[in-house]
Amino acid sequence: MAIRLGDVAPDFTAETTEGTVNFHEWLGEGWGVLFSHPKDFTPVCTTELGGFAARKAEFDQRNTKLIAVSVDDVASHQRWKSDIGEVQGTELNFPIIGDEKHTVADLYDMIHPNASDTMTVRSVFIIGPDKKVKLTLTYPASTGRNVDEIVRVLDSLQLTAAFPVATPLDWRPGDDVIIANSVNDADAAEKFPRGFRKVKDYLRFTPAPNK
Ligand code: BEZ
Repeated sequence: MAIRLGDVAPDFTAETTEGTVNFHEWLGEGWGVLFSHPKDFTPVCTTELGGFAARKAEFDQRNTKLIAVSVDDVASHQRWKSDIGEVQGTELNFPIIGDEKHTVADLYDMIHPNASDTMTVRSVFIIGPDKKVKLTLTYPASTGRNVDEIVRVLDSLQLTAAFPVATPLDWRPGDDVIIANSVNDADAAEKFPRGFRKVKDYLRFTPAPNK
């Protein structure tokens, strides 16, 4: 069954390029990004894995671990790793799960038979410290993901988990945020001492409270 927002991320134990991983234990108290790759030694995946590896420090700063999954075995991933480092200029610095039996792919509904019977789509799951799924994204195999967007959404998820706010269209860290409608004007004045701008009764902007 498809994974929905708010579901507990299915736990599993799997072999990876960095040894055996029990997913929930491995996540620890932080955030995680689990993302799937249709198959090893494929061009788009090679650019994506290298691209994420090059930006790993940004995920570390956000207390977020990266883990990839591809439906080939760990021995194949180990051979592919050297290509990724060579092509993208950054060594792979996070684990890839060996999923030749499709255990993780099936748990997370990453194989969409109308797209392919054997390869996964490009799924992204962001998991919070409570092990619940905070975001899902699904791209076709032919479209590579965008690291900027995943970092951006992580910033929004972490901000909105900490404060009663939401982030508007095209929001970037540092931009004004929207005060949640569960907060009335009197409480908003207290909670957001830098004030707020009321465009409509239901649309009030305030400077990002974490800046
Ligand atoms: C790729 O990663 O390049 C890819 C994988 C499967 C289908 C199409 C492209």
